[in-house]
Formats: sequence, C-alpha cells, structure tokens
Amino acid sequence: LFHSVALAPRDPILGLNEAFAADTRPGKVNLGVGVYYDAEGRLPLMRAVREAERERLATPTAHGYLPIDGIAAYDAAVQQLLFGAEAAAVTERRVVTVQSLGGTGALKVGADFLHALDPSAKVAISTPSWANHRGIFENAGFEVIDYPYYDAASHAVDIDGLLAALDGFAPGTIVVLHACCHNPTGVDLDTAQWRQVVERMQARELVPFLDIAYQGFGDGIEPDAAAIRLFEASGLPMFVASSFSKSFSLYGERVGALSVVAASDDEARRVQSQLKRVVRTNYSNPPTYGAALVSHVLHTPALRAMWEDELGAMRERIRAMRRGLVARLAAHGATGDFGFIERQRGMFSYSGLDAAQVARLAEEFGIYAVSSGRICVAALNEGNLDTVAGAIAAVGR
Ligand code: LMR
Repeated sequence: LFHSVALAPRDPILGLNEAFAADTRPGKVNLGVGVYYDAEGRLPLMRAVREAERERLATPTAHGYLPIDGIAAYDAAVQQLLFGAEAAAVTERRVVTVQSLGGTGALKVGADFLHALDPSAKVAISTPSWANHRGIFENAGFEVIDYPYYDAASHAVDIDGLLAALDGFAPGTIVVLHACCHNPTGVDLDTAQWRQVVERMQARELVPFLDIAYQGFGDGIEPDAAAIRLFEASGLPMFVASSFSKSFSLYGERVGALSVVAASDDEARRVQSQLKRVVRTNYSNPPTYGAALVSHVLHTPALRAMWEDELGAMRERIRAMRRGLVARLAAHGATGDFGFIERQRGMFSYSGLDAAQVARLAEEFGIYAVSSGRICVAALNEGNLDTVAGAIAAVGR
C-alpha cells in the first residue's frame, strides 16, 4: 500500500522545533516558530489565564460536547474584539463566528466553505506570506496566486505593486491579508494604504480574507483591529481568521475563530449553517478547555484588564528586544543598517539573511531561524541577545 508514498519535507516552521530539540549544545536559541517567551526565556502562563483556571476549577464541570460552532459566549467575545461592540455588522447580526482549532483551523474551515461556493475562484496571498497559507488553500482545492507585498530594498510595503495586482484580479478572487503584524515581514500597511486596498477590493468585487493571529502585539488590541474595522465599514462580505494562541499564550489549546460578515441577518444564518457542516464533517465540534478560559477572561472585567496589561507588557518587551538587537548588531560591527528592525511590528523580523546564512546560524551557532530569514524577536532576551547579534554579524560578513 505505501510503497509509492514519498517522504514529505519537514514543515519550514514547526520542523525547526524538531531540529532545535535534537541540538545538544547548551547555548542553542530557537528563533524559528512564532512563540512569545518571557525575559527569562520561559513560555508564560499568563496571570489572567491562571486565575481563570483557578476560578473554573472551583466548580468542576463534566466534559460534554460543545455545540458545533463552539461556546456562544466565546464567539460573541471574539466578535467584539475584532469588530467592536458597536459595529453595524455585529448589531445587525450579520456576523457569524464559529470557534475553531486555532487560526489555522479557521483558515481551513473558511477555505472549505469558499471552495464549495466557487471552486474556480483563485486565492491570492502576499509575497512573502506565512508558509502555511499556500498549503491550506491548495489543500482545499484552490489555485493559489501571489501579490507583491514586501519591498526588500526599502523594507516597506510595495503599495503600488499591491494595488496594481488587485486591479488585475478577476472578480471573486479571495485575497488573504494579514490584518496586523504581517508574518513573516513585520511590515504593515498604514491606515491610508488600507483605505486604498479596501477601495480597490470593493471596485473589483474581491473577497477579503483577513488573518489576525497577533492582535495586541502591534500597537494594541483596538488599533491592531483597524483594518478589520475598515473592511467591515465598507459593507464588503468578508472573512476573518483569528487566534488566541499568542495573545493568551494558549498555543497547545488551539483556540481560534472564523468570523464571516454577510449582507443580512438571513444570509448570515445560512452561512452559519454551512460553516457548521464543514466543522461537523471535519472534526465534529471543537474542544472546550481553551475557549472556556478565554471566554471567562474576556467576560470578567477584572481579568480582562489584567490580560490587557499583560499583553501590553509583552508588546513592550518585544519592542525593547528590537532596540536591543539593533544596538548589539551595531556593537558587533554588523554590515549594514539594521534600523528597520525597530520599525517592524509583532513577533517577527525579516532580517534580510538568506537561506545559506540561516543554515550557518544553525550549524555554527545553534541559532535556529526560518530559512526565509524570519527571526522571532519574541524569543530574544538579555541572556541570548548578545550571542544572537554576534552570530548574525558573523554570518553577514
Ligand atoms: C508561526 O508563523 O511561526 C506561527 O504562526 C506558528 C505556526 O503555526 O506556524
């Protein structure tokens, strides 16, 4: 049966965890996967989450099935974070949200639903994009195409290239956009550029599919949702895949959501019924634990305030690490101006290192990064900053 099965390549991001785990050098550093570590290099258990766990444990509950679309209170909390409580789509009940297995699960449910709707539509992703975007949409049956996004020379968005590409797409093309903290570049559109994108997409009748996995890591919970709010105000039908893996440090609990904005309450109910079919035929219904914790925190004012404070501190620590990296690179005599690292947002920096230099970082220094040159700044700390800067300077010479 399996004689013709080919060996699949290692995942370009999660595969690095395997290589890192196999490395026996004590000073090794994992800058691969997008995970936030604290100043001591530990994966945080957030205080708000710990408190929610304690409060929930006080009244033990049996482990029943969730509804197919998840915990209703969780879905409502997601809508408020993404769109704002006052958004017309929310108050007019035109948004449907289904709890999903992380952001990846949300993308997959949306992709399956869209493919059933129009299998001939193309899906456009940014150059570069999160490595899994292409795989998810191709596996759902779509042809995936690219649009220009990052200009390496200026370390900025190639807005002219992006807008020209949108103008050339056929109506109905699904355009995957990173709502904030673009993965892998850390370079986002500004508000004026988002407005231009929304206008072009409206004119061309394109379908926005926003991916927001890092809300709160850019400028804050509200400002990071600005692009979603602009699209919502435009009245376009839209998709949003969101995740709490990073913002609640609940990676392994797979807590995400897919939200779809429709033209009417009635349309939304019909979309919801189809999303539930996709979920039911893939994995039946979602797991309880992580979403119950998130819902508990978001619906308990004191815990919500605690969470926002903690998230703010994480954001500030990443910014400090960006400043620290730029300063140490200069101190190590690294070739070139790395000031752009401070302007990038979210967990990642697109360092400009090529695949050969990234391979040297792993082989010679035990420092693991994505072969595209993406490094996870959120894994830096005072204990490893100097080693990392020295190694980057060395491979850049
Ligand atoms: C990443 O890009 O590192 C994260 O989104 C984790 C993942 O699933 O790839």
